[in-house]
Formats: sequence, C-alpha cells, structure tokens
Amino acid sequence: MQQDAMEEKYRQKFPRSRELYEAAKKMIPDGITHDIRYSEPFPVYITHGAGAHKWDVDGNEYIDYFGGHGALLLGHQHPQVVEAVADQARKGTHFGACHPLEVEWARLVISLVPGADLVRFTSSGTEATLLALRLARAFTGRERVVKLDAHFHGWHDTVVPGSVSARSPGVPRSTLECVKLCPPNDVQALEAALAEQPTAAIILEPSGASFGRVPVRPGFLAEVRELGTRFGAVLIFDEVITGFRLAPGGAQEYYGVNADLVTMGKIVSGGLPGGAVAGRGDIMGLLEMKRGLGKVSHPGTFNGNPLSAAAGVAALRIIATGEPIAAANAKTAALIKGFNRVIAAKGIDWCAYGHASIFQIAMNCDCAKKSDCVRTVCTYDWQKLRNHDRPKELKLRRNMLLNGVDFVGSGGWVSAVHSDLDIEETIAAFERSVEQMYTSEAN
Ligand SMILES: Cc1ncc(COP(=O)(O)O)c(C=O)c1O
Repeated sequence: MQQDAMEEKYRQKFPRSRELYEAAKKMIPDGITHDIRYSEPFPVYITHGAGAHKWDVDGNEYIDYFGGHGALLLGHQHPQVVEAVADQARKGTHFGACHPLEVEWARLVISLVPGADLVRFTSSGTEATLLALRLARAFTGRERVVKLDAHFHGWHDTVVPGSVSARSPGVPRSTLECVKLCPPNDVQALEAALAEQPTAAIILEPSGASFGRVPVRPGFLAEVRELGTRFGAVLIFDEVITGFRLAPGGAQEYYGVNADLVTMGKIVSGGLPGGAVAGRGDIMGLLEMKRGLGKVSHPGTFNGNPLSAAAGVAALRIIATGEPIAAANAKTAALIKGFNRVIAAKGIDWCAYGHASIFQIAMNCDCAKKSDCVRTVCTYDWQKLRNHDRPKELKLRRNMLLNGVDFVGSGGWVSAVHSDLDIEETIAAFERSVEQMYTSEAN
C-alpha cells in the first residue's frame, strides 16, 4: 500500500482524535505532554482502558502495550486498585499530613526491596533519581556522578547527558561538567572513570539502557558493585521500570546484586503518579531533621499522597505473590517469538528481543545471530541498538494503531492480564503492519 494511502486511512479512522489534536497543538507544544507520545500524523486520544485494552474517542479498541509507560503491570482498572483509590478519594485526597496508608506502603516496599532499610516517597521517577543523587552527593561530600551512556533516569538536569534527549538545550554547563559518561557494559572504562576523580554516585538501569534496549552483560552488575565499594561511590540502581516487574524485589532480586540506593516509580504507586527512593539506612538517614545543617532537603506537595499510596499498597500486595510477574513474562516470551517468526518470514533486518515482561524491536539490525541468540548475552553493537530509526518506528506505530495495537514503536510492556488471544492478535497485527510498511513507497 502507498505510504500516503496509509496516512489517509489513519486520518479517516481517527477523525475525532484529529480534531482534538488540531485544538491541542494551538495550546500545548506539539499537542503532547510527554515527548514519547509524539505521533505522526497525530496522536490518538484515549478515553478509557480495561485490562489489557483501551479505547479512543472514535470508538476504536486497542490491545495496549504502552501500559501506562510501564506502570500498569496489572493492566488498566485492576478491580482492587480501583476500589482502593475510589475508597480513598471518598475519604480525601490530601491531608497535608501523615496518614496510615503511607506507613503500610513503606512496610510493603521495605519488605519487598532487598537492602531497603528506609524509604522516602516522591511524586515521580524523575524526582526519585534527583533525590537519590542528592543523597549520594551529601553522603560522600562529592559532586561528580558517573552515568552510563544511553541509560535513562528521567528529565532533570544531571541525568540528561547520554539520555534520549542528550543534547537538550537549557542544561547548565556546570551541571554537565559534573557528569562523566561511560559506555555500557564496559567495566574497564568505568574503573578508569572512578580512578580519575572522586565520584559521588554511579547510577544505572540494572536491566541495561532504556529498560534493556542495550541489555546488561551478565556479571556486569556484580563488577560495578565491587567498583562502587572500592571507590566509595554510592551505587544507585534506577528501578523505575524494573522495580516490581523483573521480580517482586526488582532487579536486585532478579540479578542477585544489591545497590546502595534504589529508585522506583510507576508500579510502586500502582499506576498513579509517584516514586520512591529506598536503601541503606546510613544514607537515607541524611533526610532526618536531627542532622541539622547536614540534612538533605526533600519537600514535595504530593510526596506519598493518599491516592498514590492507596493504589501502591493495593498493587504491591498483589504483585508480592509473584503471580502477575510470571503471567506477564510468559506472554512476553510468546510475543517475542511470534514477532521474530514474522520478521524471519518477511526477511527484514529487524530483531525482537527482551526479557521478563519487556519487549524491544530493533530495526536496521545487521546482527548475524538475529533472533537466534539469547539477548541476555547480546554482544551486538550497543550504539546500533540505541540509535533508534524514529521515522520508521513512527510508521510502525501508526500502522499498529490502524491494526488495533498500541505500543511505543520500539517496544513495550506486557501486563499480567494480556490473554493468549491478545498475543495472537498482536502478532497478526504486527504481520499486517510490517507488510503495509514494506509495500509502501517510502520504504
Ligand atoms: C529508568 C527510568 N528512570 C526514571 C524515569 C523517570 O520517571 P518519571 O517519568 O516518572 O519521571 C523513567 C521513565 O520512564 C525511567 O524509565
């Protein structure tokens, strides 16, 4: 099908979304409120979700792998989460005070997350990494941070280098100078960086960059652990994605390596806005008033807010059983296998991979092993994996939307409530979408 024909089909199928977008872009830059939601020719506007599905303003239904940016391991509208939030909303949404649910929430996080002596709640994952880095700097009395290239930790200034928006204007030079970037999975480079200058923290995504887009090399986390200890740098695992998804205890449990601090978001607050930092008592203790001038500042109007606490407690109680994780993982493996079957049949240079309940699709992939390899020992060029072909991904996403599936374009998150039929239909939609891309003029 001609490229223009697909675009025309999109315009016809989503007229109400188009109207909303025309109105939105006059008020909101690009009409979007998160960079990753940018879509061409325009985004679809969603009205509601249930389980693994969601619906748009034009009445179209989608199998959803955006999953609330990875927050919805239990799917949309899990009855226990909905009930907990509704119940709390009836009692009040903000007391400007301590409340019992935050105590239960803390108890759950501490019981699940290895090495968590203390926890503090934030309003987002970005705030969690901001707080963790501040704590590390205060604890060590050092400013420099070592970050791994391509790893993503939110959008505050210190973590911009090496992230998807690595060249964002508006970040002070002095902040950029405090950050040392190291290539992922390269322990020699990391050791050299730590030897070069005293470092406050090493921060990384334990799954590998961008929730496993560049998979972590087996053994690497243990090597980093040793380097952190040897050089006195606080090791921060950013578990905003991996927390409560790879295992009830997150990546620390999954890989058997403990960090000093762990940052969380998304699932920790049951799909509502929220985040957390947990870890060693001697570091977390810097938040205590008794430290006087040595206290690390951490205000925040919505920290530990009752609605997020209610959703978080309900979700974590369910996730603690391990059952949702096992269900989501099994569906993900089937999805990846199906995608690779299509890729092989079409003879295109793509590869589907991933681990646990996260999948990735690499385009322009000239890896000889392709889908035959086990991606946890992926040795493919990390620069190629991280260099997204965004125009092609946007086309794939557009075609998938036309075929009744929503995902990021380069991958997605599977929930515990995706059914076998959802997986089957997604693979069929993928096959049609790829066909439509590769028979178009633009490709
Ligand atoms: C690993 C990681 N850290 C931090 C963040 C930022 O979290 P938030 O979007 O809640 O600010 C994200 C967001 O996707 C993430 O994937």
